[in-house]
Amino acid sequence: MMKIKMRVLCLFLSLICAIRTAGLSVRGPAMPLHVQLGASVTLPCSVDTPIPLRELEVQWMREDSGSLVHLFLGGKIRPESQSPAYSGRAEFFTEEISKGNFSLLLRNVTTEDKGMYKCVVHTARESSEAKVKIDTEWLVVTGADVPVFAYAGEDVILNCSVDTHVPLRELEVEWMKTNEEIQVLLFMGGQYRPESQPERFRGRAEFFSEEIPKGNFQ
Ligand SMILES: *[C@@H]1O[C@H](CO)[C@@H](O)[C@H](O)[C@H]1NC(C)=O
Ligand SMILES: *[C@@H]1O[C@H](CO)[C@@H](O)[C@H](O)[C@H]1NC(C)=O
Ligand SMILES: *[C@@H]1O[C@H](CO)[C@@H](O)[C@H](O)[C@H]1NC(C)=O
Repeated sequence: MMKIKMRVLCLFLSLICAIRTAGLSVRGPAMPLHVQLGASVTLPCSVDTPIPLRELEVQWMREDSGSLVHLFLGGKIRPESQSPAYSGRAEFFTEEISKGNFSLLLRNVTTEDKGMYKCVVHTARESSEAKVKIDTEWLVVTGADVPVFAYAGEDVILNCSVDTHVPLRELEVEWMKTNEEIQVLLFMGGQYRPESQPERFRGRAEFFSEEIPKGNFQ
């Protein structure tokens, strides 16, 4: 009888412990964040119940290198402790911290920013963390989603816009006729390459040269 009572008591105590340690739950994003190079991104991190600022510490860190991306400690943002790679590029939403929102704004994303981050939240009694993964993307290409109609003998413009932070000379843009797998037009090595055009498109398919630096490959 005594044994059973003890067991029940132990179970009860461990349940209370489990509830207490599960008290601080830090939310991050469910999925990796895909960010274009040069763009800005918000790394979400929040708790449901606001934490008194004087007992709050929030560390944003790179999980791989351990470098400190940003820090909130002792009621203040601590830019002086930021790793130089993030200095002036990573910011808290200051107004949001007291509401339990510790999201971080990261500007001018580079290839080096790709990787796993963690948002570690400490209170006087407990700590917990959320992970955020950043994937960087080089290139976004957009065309027209709608068919283009033209009468035989007419001119037609086919849209293609390239959004990238890669220099033009490193970019290769190829227009293809997909049902026949033949090349229509090529841009390579910073130049339009008419010599590689097949006979049937020669002198008929061209880029708008002055638009190319803007990423417009119509
Ligand atoms: C971010 O990029 C913009 C424009 O490309 C530039 O003016 C700015 O100085 C950059 N900021 C940082 C912190 O690198
Ligand atoms: C936190 O603040 C940012 C910036 O205002 C906002 O985009 C985000 O939705 C907020 N997150 C929560 C959980 O309130
Ligand atoms: C192509 O782009 C131009 C702007 O550059 C736009 O006015 C036009 O509607 C676009 N055409 C299609 C079919 O999307």
